[in-house]
Parts: sequence; structure tokens; C-alpha cells
Amino acid sequence: MTNEPGIPEGLHDKLETRTARAGVIGLGYVGLPLAVEFARAGFRTTGIDLDRRKVDAVNQGTSYIPDVATADVARLVADGRLAATTEFAVLAELDTVNICVPTPLRKTKDPDMSFIVSAVEQIAKYLHAGMLVVLESTTYPGTTEELVKPMLEAGGLKAGVDFFLAFSPERVDPGNAAFNTRNVPKVVGGLGPESTELASLLYGAAIETIVPVSSPQTAEMVKLLENTFRMVNIGLVNEIALMCDRLGLDVWEVVKAAATKPFGFMPFYPGPGLGGHCIPIDPFYLSWKAKQTGFDPRFIELAGQINGAMPHFVVDKIGDALNRHRKAINGSTVLVLGVAYKRDIDDMRESPSLDVMALLHQKGATVRYADPYVPTLAARAWPGGIDLTTELLTPETIAAADCVAILTEHRTVDYAMVRRSARLVVDTRNAIAGTHSHVIKLGAPAPAMTPDGAETEEAVA
Ligand SMILES: NC(=O)c1ccc[n+]([C@@H]2O[C@H](COP(=O)([O-])OP(=O)(O)OC[C@H]3O[C@@H](n4cnc5c(N)ncnc54)[C@H](O)[C@@H]3O)[C@@H](O)[C@H]2O)c1
Repeated sequence: MTNEPGIPEGLHDKLETRTARAGVIGLGYVGLPLAVEFARAGFRTTGIDLDRRKVDAVNQGTSYIPDVATADVARLVADGRLAATTEFAVLAELDTVNICVPTPLRKTKDPDMSFIVSAVEQIAKYLHAGMLVVLESTTYPGTTEELVKPMLEAGGLKAGVDFFLAFSPERVDPGNAAFNTRNVPKVVGGLGPESTELASLLYGAAIETIVPVSSPQTAEMVKLLENTFRMVNIGLVNEIALMCDRLGLDVWEVVKAAATKPFGFMPFYPGPGLGGHCIPIDPFYLSWKAKQTGFDPRFIELAGQINGAMPHFVVDKIGDALNRHRKAINGSTVLVLGVAYKRDIDDMRESPSLDVMALLHQKGATVRYADPYVPTLAARAWPGGIDLTTELLTPETIAAADCVAILTEHRTVDYAMVRRSARLVVDTRNAIAGTHSHVIKLGAPAPAMTPDGAETEEAVA
């Protein structure tokens, strides 16, 4: 069946009148906010997820993603605009479907495409003429055309003619109050002009600015450029922090002053390593694909090495700090402040805090943590393999630790109280303002000690 007249026009009309039925596969950090925006725009939207708890939560009108308000989900579900299911058969009734499933790396740093493949297998079963399929999961350039298209075309329908196919990268920044799914421009690259136009029409109903590009590969590469840019610049500033440490300079002061340049500089900040589901992972999708062409991408590998070594550097800092108090890591209690991978969110995926905790645990420390966003840390969630519960951030719990290591700077924490109560602090985020004799900062000169090597009065107080 090819060149059937009226196929794109039919979907075009349904999208313009918002009578198209929209679907989203994968209701996680990306998929749930997107489904909510489609429903809010007026489309009857169905979310599909393998996780029954997420599906039940949506159907009960509750949100499990901090950036999505439960009130919005409740209203859209009550209005009959939003529903969720574990059954893929609903795809037969949908006009559009967006794929928002995970794209992790295998241990070998090769892409794990199994989630995309399994979602596309389901779509292929129910693919029908006039359907629009959009891949959103971050992936290597070529995925949409080389992997998804042949799987969908195997049933006889032709992409760009009978059904429409596009890639549109997600740029959600969890915990960012200023930018959300609605007001972040959306890059769209379709397989042929009709796919781009139809996908732009779908997103245009829910998102303020659409940026069409010439192909799915271009859209895939846009996302990888953005995330590689971030990974490499964080790697650069982490290396600058290591140099400042050797040179006795304060990297935080250096970056702050450099950021006053009104052009040609963008500040990045050092820290205990790279975390999250995207920045430490996505560039390796590009690296993997480039290597297939015989090209050896050097920036990605180098930044990966520098960022990956940061947890070890932080543990060395903690060891040096304890040494000032004539203590060893072995036998000391270290309270890790912040286990989420970045501030003000509850996501622990790839969090460098977990690596720091595991290294400290291996060296014999008693590891505790405090994170207002992460009430419990299951044994299977970190290499230490012990069930942990967050400490309450009181002067007593802070004073009880031999060392407090600030690894994630959640804004709700009272850092002045932490400074006053702690015996010793290793601050990897510059969360504590000023210079204090018992606060050792990443990438900054250590405060002075007395000639016999002991801490000053103020420092041990
Ligand atoms: N989280 C972010 O900040 C972010 C930002 C930009 C891009 N991305 C990308 O978006 C994609 C999704 O990320 P996420 O953070 O939303 O992941 P997530 O783990 O929060 O959500 C993925 C969901 O997909 C479901 N799922 C897995 N396989 C499925 C299948 N075959 N059928 C149906 N449901 C399935 C899971 O149960 C889960 O609910 C990834 O490629 C990621 O790299 C994420």
C-alpha cells in the first residue's frame, strides 16, 4: 500500500482539530510530563508502561514525578483526557505514539537498545496507515532510520508515505523551575517533509517553539552534541579544579570571576563526578557510533576518564581531611550530604555520591547519608549493599559524624547550621560560603593547620 491519497491530510486535520488520539510509551521522567502536555493541549492521551504501579498511579490521578503536579494529573484523568495502560493493543486506536523508554549503556559502554526494540516491536504489531511514530529516547545518530524504520516497514507499510516517522530529542531538566516541557524549544527531524510537518504539528499544540531540522539523524546528533558539550565542559572544569588543588588556588573564585566575561565564556562547576541518566551516558552512544566508522572520538573518552576519577579524588580529600584530625577513613563515620545526582531532585541514577559512598565503605568507614529527597537507600541501589535510611539533618546527627561530605547541594539544607555543627566538612559543591578552618573544599587550598600538624582550636570545635 503506497501513495494512498489523503493519508497525511487526514492526520493533519486530526492534529489541527486536536481530535487525534495521542499515545506515549514509557511514563517516566520524560514520558509522563509529555503525556500531560498532550492531554492539556486537548488530545485524548494514553500512556503505556510495563510498570503497573506507574499505570495505576496515573489512573488514580496521582503523579510520581516531582515536576508534574498531582492536581494536573487528577484533573486530566477526571476529564477523560489522560489514561494509562499496560496493554499495547490500545496502539491500534492511536493516531500518534511517542517512544520515551530508557536507553542505558551496557557494562561495556555499548548502547543497550533493548527497550527501544521491545517498544517498536509492539508498535509494529498495531501499526496502521496514517499513524505518526516519534522516537524521543536519546540514542545514536541513525537509530530512527537504520533500526526503527525497517522494523516498522516489515509489515508492508512505507515510512513517510503510509505512516510517518520522526525523531525529537527530549531536553527536560528535572527540578528546573524556569524551564519545563512546554517552554523548552523542541527539535524535530522527520523522515521526509510530511513526517517533519506532522510531528511539528503534534508538538506545536503542546510546546511553544518547534525547531524543524532536515532529518532524524540530525535531530539525534543535536541531542548528543548538547550532552557531549556538557560532559566535556564539566570534565574540563573538573580538571581545572584538580590543577587549582595542586596550585593552591580556589577554583570557585576562578570560575566566578571568569563568568563575569560577557561573551565567549559559560560557567561550569566542578563536583564529585557526573550523574544522571543522560550526561554520563549519552556521549558514549555517539562514541560507539563514531567508532563504527573508524573514527576515534577523543574528547568524550578523556572527559569520561576525568569525570569518572572524581569520586576517587573526593575520597582522597576525605582521607586527607580526617588525617588532619589524626583519624583514618577506616573506623570513621562519614555522613554524606546529598545522594541524588543533582540538587533539588530525588533521582539517584548514576549518582557519583553512590560511588563515593561505596569507596568509603570499602575502606572501612561507617557510611551514613542525609538527603531530604531520598528517604531510603536500598542495599541493591548502591555497591555498599546495605539498606540505609536518611539521617535527619539536626545539629546532633551532624556533630556525630567524624566528617560530613557535601556531595549534592540541595537548596533546602541549612548549610550555616551544618558548618556550625560539623567537626569536619569536605565540601565538593562550594555550598558553605567563606573560608573556615574545618571546611575543606574541592579545588581550593586547605585551611591552615598548627605547626605540629594538629587542627586549630576553631577547627576541632
Ligand atoms: N530524565 C531526563 O532528564 C531525560 C532528559 C532528556 C532525555 N532523556 C531520555 O529519555 C529517555 C527516557 O528517560 P526517562 O528518564 O524518562 O526514563 P525513566 O526510566 O524515568 O522512564 C522510562 C519508562 O519506560 C518504561 N518502559 C521501559 N521499557 C518499556 C517498554 N518496552 N514498554 C513500555 N514502557 C517501558 C519504564 O517502566 C519507565 O517507566 C531516555 O532515552 C533518556 O536518555 C531523559
